[in-house]
Amino acid sequence: MLERMIMTKPQADHETTQREQPPADAGSARGSGRFNGLAVAAAVVVMVLVAFVAGRHYFGDFDAVVGAHRGGTAPPNAAGALGGPFTLTNQFGEPASDTDFRGSFMLVYFGFTFCPDVCPMTLTKLASALEMLEAEEAERIVPILITVDPARDTPEQLRLYAEYFHPRLVALTGSDEQIADVARKYRVYYAKVEEEGADPDAYTMDHTAITYLMGPDGTYIRHFSHQATPEVIADRLRTILAGGPAV
Ligand code: NI
Repeated sequence: MLERMIMTKPQADHETTQREQPPADAGSARGSGRFNGLAVAAAVVVMVLVAFVAGRHYFGDFDAVVGAHRGGTAPPNAAGALGGPFTLTNQFGEPASDTDFRGSFMLVYFGFTFCPDVCPMTLTKLASALEMLEAEEAERIVPILITVDPARDTPEQLRLYAEYFHPRLVALTGSDEQIADVARKYRVYYAKVEEEGADPDAYTMDHTAITYLMGPDGTYIRHFSHQATPEVIADRLRTILAGGPAV
């Protein structure tokens, strides 16, 4: 099940499908006592698997969960201390640096295109939030995806992925060292997770799932958890764009 999820390309309805999956076979445990026992055992196994997958993919705010999409509860230490210079490669194969975006707000999210759930969900929410703003507001903000999986997220892979979410989404990749450097500056955790016996290419990535809002001067303003709704994100962005507080 996990392997299938890992290998599945992002789909809009994937999240819903996974969430609504019933505890299979629990209702069919009728008949002989022996069959009942087996059915209950099978149901327990299924529930444990569901809980494991759910822990990894949906409840990332619990830092104790190994393999979570982390974040949303751990703000950076001090405004201005998070972020910094980077030089990466965009989805068109061109160099892109933090200074290219000076004058614009940056919405920076770290993820990877093979992520089956949280990444596509978060990018969809960011796109929705931008659509809720007036055009003059939205164009002051550049949504940026930085991959934590540069081995698979080539510029071409990012180009196909990015255009699915938002026409102005900037998707960045780089060398292992470049990605490690920018992740460290944003205090983003990421790690490759390989299942024993699985296809070596069918790995997934654990990673921080926080979206950072950086100001026109490149300094940190605030962040959004992956559970923030588009309405809340749009509301906060509108306030900040109007010169209001970053609450
Ligand atoms: Ni993800």
